[in-house]
Amino acid sequence: MKIKLILLTLATVLMSGIQLQAQTGSSKKILVAYFSHSGNTRAVAYDICKKVDGEFFEIHTVKPYPTDYNAVVDQAKREQKSDYRPELKSRLKNINQYEIIFLGYPDWWDTYPQAVKVFLSQYDFSGKIIIPFCTHEGSEFGRSIADLKKMCPNSHILEGLAIRGSAVHNSDDRIEGWLKKLKIIK
Ligand SMILES: Cc1cc2nc3c(=O)[nH]c(=O)nc-3n(C[C@H](O)[C@H](O)[C@H](O)COP(=O)(O)O)c2cc1C
Repeated sequence: MKIKLILLTLATVLMSGIQLQAQTGSSKKILVAYFSHSGNTRAVAYDICKKVDGEFFEIHTVKPYPTDYNAVVDQAKREQKSDYRPELKSRLKNINQYEIIFLGYPDWWDTYPQAVKVFLSQYDFSGKIIIPFCTHEGSEFGRSIADLKKMCPNSHILEGLAIRGSAVHNSDDRIEGWLKKLKIIK
């Protein structure tokens, strides 16, 4: 009888620990994957990564985009029109270890760059939590959330954060408030 009682107490303590972990999300491994051309999205990704203790992954194309603004704007337009799929430099070793994926990108012609589309097509995100963030110069997410939902119909897509490119270095409070609202941090 005494042993039964001890076992029951142990099980209760164990269960409440598991429940707490589930509530705080502390047991979930976090990936922060992003594409950035001129550094704005990288700055936000870096800040998120520090706050959530995530793993950083840059989505890099083998062939770099031109640095000239007009040239990259034209190229991005052409790539979107023809649904061009640029080759990416590196692959994630094991997507299965992550439950939460922050996905960052600049708004390019109202959606994410084609490189992000390639990234999304390379892995199975079913059952995973995807949290988008973007930087932009006025269009916020554009139609990228709708596109993301189409690409990852079996993922849980949470509320994202859009930050104006010129404001990325003054967005610490916004980022923190958003992560708290999502209950990713306390
Ligand atoms: C090819 C290209 C297309 C863009 N299209 C849009 C757009 O449709 N809407 C918008 O608000 N900003 C647009 N921008 C501005 C970028 O989204 C913004 O500058 C962003 O912060 C750049 O992020 P990055 O420094 O991480 O590359 C575009 C920029 C480029 C280079």
